[in-house]
Amino acid sequence: MLRVDALHPDPSIIEQAAVVLRRGGLVALPTETVYGLAADATNAAAVAKIFEAKQRPRTDPLIVHISNTAELPEVAADPPPLAHALANAFWPGPLTMVLRRSPSIPPIVSSGLDTVAVRFPAHAVAVALIRALGAPIAAPSANLFSRPSPTRADHVLKDLGGRIDMILDGGPTTVGVESTVVDLTIDPPAVLRPGGVPIEALREIDPRIFYAPRHAAANEAVSSPGMLLKHYAPRAEVRLFSGPREGVLVRMHREISQLTSQGKTVGVLALSEDAASLNAATHLADLGSAGRLDDVSRNLFEGLRSLDDYAAEVIFVRAPDRKGLGEAIWDRLYRAAEGRIIEVV
Ligand code: TXA
Ligand code: MG
Repeated sequence: MLRVDALHPDPSIIEQAAVVLRRGGLVALPTETVYGLAADATNAAAVAKIFEAKQRPRTDPLIVHISNTAELPEVAADPPPLAHALANAFWPGPLTMVLRRSPSIPPIVSSGLDTVAVRFPAHAVAVALIRALGAPIAAPSANLFSRPSPTRADHVLKDLGGRIDMILDGGPTTVGVESTVVDLTIDPPAVLRPGGVPIEALREIDPRIFYAPRHAAANEAVSSPGMLLKHYAPRAEVRLFSGPREGVLVRMHREISQLTSQGKTVGVLALSEDAASLNAATHLADLGSAGRLDDVSRNLFEGLRSLDDYAAEVIFVRAPDRKGLGEAIWDRLYRAAEGRIIEVV
């Protein structure tokens, strides 16, 4: 694990990481969303190691990261005008576009699909490493399959330590949820995964872009296997509450008190303004204020992981509104809860 400045990475450290990638190795690196597990995207044998290290099914395709919009034609064949419009608006940044795959990207990257997911991340370390390598990098989130995504280098170390060659520690990530994935190979274009770019912002570029949440059950066949329901699950049972705030808080407090009186270890992922009402819990992780969804998304995975570290048996959480970043936050919580939503009326 090597420390690296998130804004001005030391070129000699970047070069060490590039050497690992050139030899077909794996490097975990920070992006603005979450940490990624990188391999040279043009090296099929190296990409295969990503699936091994993460214990990720080979049927779950990876995102290819580039360091400049001008590199798009190297990885994607005939990107449509909308791809350029979205790139202009949101790159570098937390937007991934699914496009036709170019022959330079081996099929294993896309799990054999004729499409490829592409992103230009807004992080100096990721960009410097892609440039030093001189090739795009394939990188999924650097967690073990079905664990919450890593937003700090120590999350990566915990999940993948001993299984990968190098971790670049650039400090905590700033966005905290993964990129928004939008499929431009279908008409109308569809959001496959809500993420760091709000869907409302995408629709300002093309109002036809739609999102139909289809959270699949664990072993159902899906077009994008990242849609698997149990995908962000911590070890604890997560209970996700939705409904008017006052009613939800009363109900959560009652259930928390019941469980703690039975001797259970209960964690709460609490919006700051709710914390005082939920102090019957054994452990509390502060998500930040519901009025600051950027803080909530930044704190979300760290909160889930910290409550797991406290060995919480049950985790309680109240979902913020599904507007803006709230849609991505709701999606991650819904998956962590494996679809168990407690509607309070
Ligand atoms: O923010 C992010 O996107 C992070 C950072 C590291 O860039 N990466 C990330 O990768 O979250 P991963 O592998 O955890 O999630 C990639 C998602 C999955 O849901 C996958 O199924 C989908 O993108 N995906 C990748 N290629 C695809 C393709 N060709 N067609 C449809 N979905 C695809
Ligand atoms: Mg992932």
